[in-house]
Amino acid sequence: MITLALSKGRIFEETLPLLKAAGIEVLDNPETSRKLILATNSPEVQVVLVRASDVPTYVQYGGADLGVAGRDVLIEHGLDGMYQPLDLNIARCRMSVAVRDDFDYAAAIKQGSRIRVATKYTQIARQHFSDKGVHVDLIKLYGSMELAPLTGLADAIVDLVSTGNTLKANHLVEVEKVMEISSRLVVNQAALKLKREPLRRMIDAFASATPK
Ligand code: ATP
Ligand code: PRP
Repeated sequence: MITLALSKGRIFEETLPLLKAAGIEVLDNPETSRKLILATNSPEVQVVLVRASDVPTYVQYGGADLGVAGRDVLIEHGLDGMYQPLDLNIARCRMSVAVRDDFDYAAAIKQGSRIRVATKYTQIARQHFSDKGVHVDLIKLYGSMELAPLTGLADAIVDLVSTGNTLKANHLVEVEKVMEISSRLVVNQAALKLKREPLRRMIDAFASATPK
C-alpha cells in the first residue's frame, strides 16, 4: 500500500488532476465526508488528509510514503528524512512583506529602526531580514496575519500573497517579495528504498502530469 498525504482545500483540489493523469481517482469527497483515510480506484494507493503544516511530519516519520506541501511549509519544517523530487507547480503564490498603507517602510529600514514583524513563517522571515541586514523582532502568529499591523501588534507582516485582495481589503501594501511559492512532492527516504518500484512509477506519473 502507498499512502499519500494531502491537505484539504487547494492542495487536495489542485493535486486531483495530477492523480487523475496518473490514473488514480479518489473515491471520497473530503468536503462532504468526515473520513480521514480516502480510498482510491487503485487498491494499492490511499490518501490521508492532514493539516497543510503536518504533511512534512507525516512524510518524515513514514506516516505517509509521500505528500504534497507548499515550499513555505517545507522550509519552515526542514527536509529531514525526506526527498523532494518534484516542483508540482500548483498552489502558486508568493511570500511577501506587507505593511499598512500609511507606514513608511523604506524610511524605517533606512533609519535602521528595529521593526516588529508578525508572521506564521518565522524561519523564512528571519532569513530574509538577516540577509538584508534589517533588525527585526519576530512575533509568531498562526493565522490572520493581516490583522497585526491594523491593531498595532506589529509594523509589518510576512505572509502569502496571491491576488493581493486580502492585503487590499485590509489597507495593507506589499513592500518586498521574499520568494515565489509552489507546492512540492516529498517522499519518505526509507519508503523510496523499500517500495522503490511503485513509488518511482508514481513520481514519474506526477512528473508527466505537472503543469510546466
Ligand atoms: P494549516 O491548515 O496547516 O494552517 P493553511 O491554512 O496555510 O495550513 P492552505 O490555506 O490550504 O493551508 O494552504 C496550503 C498551501 O497552499 C500553503 O502552504 C501555500 O503553499 C499555498 N497557498 C496558501 N495560500 C495561497 C493562495 N492564496 N494562493 C495560492 N496558494 C496558496
Ligand atoms: C492565504 C494567505 C492570505 C491569502 C492571500 O489565506 O494566508 O491571507 O491567502 O491570497 P490573496 O492575495 O489572493 O488574497 P487563505 O485564503 O488560504 O486562508 P487561510 O488563512 O485560512 O489559510
